[in-house]
This record gives sequence, C-alpha cells and structure tokens, in this order.
Amino acid sequence: MTVAIYLPSQSNTDWWVTLMQGLLPDWDITSMASVTDPATVDYAVVWQPRTGDIAKFENLKAIVSVGAGIDHVLADPELPQGVPIIRTVGKDLTQRMQEYVALHVLRHHRDMPRQLQAQAEKDWHSIVVPVAPRRTVGVMGLGNLGAASARVLAQIGFSVRGWSKSPKSIDGVETFTGDSELDEFLDGCEILVNLLPLTPATRGILNAELFAKLPKDACVINCARGQHLVDDDLLAALESGHVKQATLDVFHQEPLPPSHTFWDHPAITVTPHISSRIDAETGGRLIAENLKIFDATGTCPDVADAARGY
Ligand code: GLV
Repeated sequence: MTVAIYLPSQSNTDWWVTLMQGLLPDWDITSMASVTDPATVDYAVVWQPRTGDIAKFENLKAIVSVGAGIDHVLADPELPQGVPIIRTVGKDLTQRMQEYVALHVLRHHRDMPRQLQAQAEKDWHSIVVPVAPRRTVGVMGLGNLGAASARVLAQIGFSVRGWSKSPKSIDGVETFTGDSELDEFLDGCEILVNLLPLTPATRGILNAELFAKLPKDACVINCARGQHLVDDDLLAALESGHVKQATLDVFHQEPLPPSHTFWDHPAITVTPHISSRIDAETGGRLIAENLKIFDATGTCPDVADAARGY
C-alpha cells in the first residue's frame, strides 16, 4: 500500500514519513511532494492540505486527518466526493482537552485573572466565589472531546450542561438539543466552553446574539475553531462588560498575527492552539492502526461523516 503524507511544513512531513514508515514497514510511505505516479497512492495522511492536493490521487481509498477535526480537509473545494475521511482521536487527545478545559474553567470560576491583577497591585483581594455546584458551565458540542470535558467538569462538581445537534445523554450533565433548545441552554450559563465541530451551521455561532443570551459576566472559552467566533462581537461584548473574560485557543488566522488586538486585550487569554495537540508518537500509532483496519475491512470506527462535517 502507498501512503502520501502532507503537513504544511516539509520538515514535519519528512518526520512523519519516517515515523509512519517505522510503524508500517511493509507499506510504501512517501511525502506528497515526492509522489511520482499519483495513481499508485492508496491513502493520503494530511493536515491542512492545499486545494487540489488530494484530487490528484484518482485511486485513493481514504484520507486520514492528523487530528480530530476534518474541516481542514473539507475546506478543499476540489476534494473528491465519497472518499472516506478518517479522524485521529485517541485517549491522549481526549485527556489533554479535559485538562485544558478543567484548567480554564477553574481559572474563570476562581477569578484568577482578577487575583493576578490584585497580586500585581499588592492588594489583599480576599474574595469568596461560589462553590462549583453553584456555578453553571455549558459545553457546546458533545462529541468525543466535548462529552469527555463535560464529564470531567461534572466530576469536579460544577453544574454542567451540554448542547449538541443530536440528543446525547451523559451522566451528571443536563443536555439540550438543537436550535430549539439553544436559548434555554445559554440562559444562566456562566462559563461557556465551545467544542463544536466547524460546519456551515456552526461557523460564526459565537456571535453578538449568542453572547447577549448569556448572563452578565459570563466567560467564554473557545477551543474548537477560530471560525466559530465573530471576533468583533466578542470584543464588543467584552467592551460593554457583558462578557467578563475569554480564553481563546483557536483563531481565524494561525499563528495569530502579532498585530491582532487579542494578544494585548486585558480580558483575553490567548493560547496557541495547544488545548489538545496530538503528539506525533501516539498519533502515528493510531493512524497506523486505523490504516491497517481500514485496509483489511474497508472501514474503521474513526471514519467521519463528511456530509455532517465531523
Ligand atoms: C485540532 O485542532 C484537531 O482537530 O485535532
């Protein structure tokens, strides 16, 4: 079997080629740039492929996304229809997202930004915040990462709600479904975590209308995709004081340009898309396993639904 790999940096691609060759010694692993006969390529392993990269491979059996999201693959207008897309999600990815969500929810819950400001001012700002069961945290998107994050927040003791497109049931989490229940979900939601997949229906969902439905002083955490957020609407909601703080891990343009207002905003914490990066060793093992299963059976549990977008 022949696998062509593409990641935006050639040195990264070369690193992955060596890794995958070690994991699949009987397969032919190559960088996309070195493919001489596109008709021989069976699988493409990609992160943010360029327009037309994948369409060249007329006999492709499947595309593998080096990550949980498949939006970066679907973004290619020349993507051939009907080729299965395999996501890469594993225990590590889920664990990392749980850690990130717990960290930033707790940080907002305990008002750490205010405490750090007080320390800088040598101000003994001794405040008591409500205990977790009296704090309502909402998670938008209840796929692998969203459901796992909601579960960990419930274990800490928060009053947790979740919202998703299709009905979900998670122990300790009050769930809401679809557009008709969005307002009820947002009502009283003091800390909002976005883990939705990026689809035409969710693009720009973190906007002025949604922020207005959150209670005053709500905090917003976006660890899904930058395109979920209307940047100017967040800035306006922070400016008016309706939204108190935001933690942003993802951006319309990554790396976030140095001139972007988010970097210096006193109420925004910026992290560089690190909420849950797959580490290459684990990711490589998962991809190799998925490719072997897919090659033997024609499918595997991580095949995404391209029509749904995740
Ligand atoms: C990261 O953003 C991913 O999709 O895994």
